[in-house]
Amino acid sequence: MKNTIDKLRKNGFLQKEEFIELIKNRNEKSFRYISKLARKEREKVFGKKVYMRGLIEFTNYCKNDCFYCGIRKSNANAQRYRLSETEILECCKMGYKIGFRTFVLQGGEDLYYNDDIICRIIEGIKKNYSNCAITLSIGEKSYESYKRFFDCGADRYLLRHETANEEHYKKLHPKELSLENRKKCLFNLKEIGYQVGCGFMVGSPYQTVENIVEDLIFIHKLKPHMIGIGPFIPHCETCFSEFQSGSVELTLFLLSVLRLMFNRVLLPSTTALGTLDLKGCEKGILAGANVVMPNLSPIAVRKKYSLYDNKIFTGDETAEYNLFLRNRIKDIGYKISEERGDYI
Ligand code: 5AD
Repeated sequence: MKNTIDKLRKNGFLQKEEFIELIKNRNEKSFRYISKLARKEREKVFGKKVYMRGLIEFTNYCKNDCFYCGIRKSNANAQRYRLSETEILECCKMGYKIGFRTFVLQGGEDLYYNDDIICRIIEGIKKNYSNCAITLSIGEKSYESYKRFFDCGADRYLLRHETANEEHYKKLHPKELSLENRKKCLFNLKEIGYQVGCGFMVGSPYQTVENIVEDLIFIHKLKPHMIGIGPFIPHCETCFSEFQSGSVELTLFLLSVLRLMFNRVLLPSTTALGTLDLKGCEKGILAGANVVMPNLSPIAVRKKYSLYDNKIFTGDETAEYNLFLRNRIKDIGYKISEERGDYI
């Protein structure tokens, strides 16, 4: 196993069969080794820095009906909300004060926010916070819309591909959605010039190790700047309420694999990881992650943006919590950076 991990570090890639074996035969020892190498690689590029992104969940309306997601269209029990431009700017103001230099605008696919409105929001943020990066995470759009947002000042775009396997994709999504279009969107975003993030859930229903390896191979082809992975967590109002959560341990192992594949990638220790494990945030960083994404959405709507059950609910937007987070990171030997943290 050590040889395979050394090879992965050296080449940034493995043959399909080798990846499968590495994941299937992982154990405590191989995990210790791979995470040690992942930390080394990460420190070569980023030192001890951890970048911070302020997440603003500005709408939980969604026209899609993804089987795993708590804000899917057919969840009639979701309490829907939308933030106004003023409310969004208010989130940025609070975030800026406590050191955030990236704002992530995330929402369901909500057509209420047409391209004009999205552009106005982007321009509003850039006018007030010209030294900050804007990341959009608002789903599948046309090439033209992506281009308009980019020209208005958006810097980055997150669009998890969710799974790179056709059959698996169909098991997680209604027939209106296609993997082909999702991939097309990701390549369009890259072509336009965004820093692009893809990603997938670990342990989503029906996922096999072979599927995960297809994800790794797809990611290798896309060469994204950011990769978001977190364990699947069931939501009680979805088709998958009876499924088990994904494994924290496998998520951590895969964070290390990804770090060895892409030493410069921006890799968050995700909220889902922190939800399943009290120390998930720290464990993610020690496995090779270098980004944290605290929530800046107003408290009043926080619970309503419920993608899965028991999503952690802290006072991320407050100065007190931010100090607490900084201390947690410091306690494991890392340091929150107040830079924008662009891809280098
Ligand atoms: N468990 C974990 N992650 C989820 N997401 C959506 N629903 C769930 C869930 N039940 C993830 C998807 C999406 C991102 C915003 O949240 O991967 O892209």
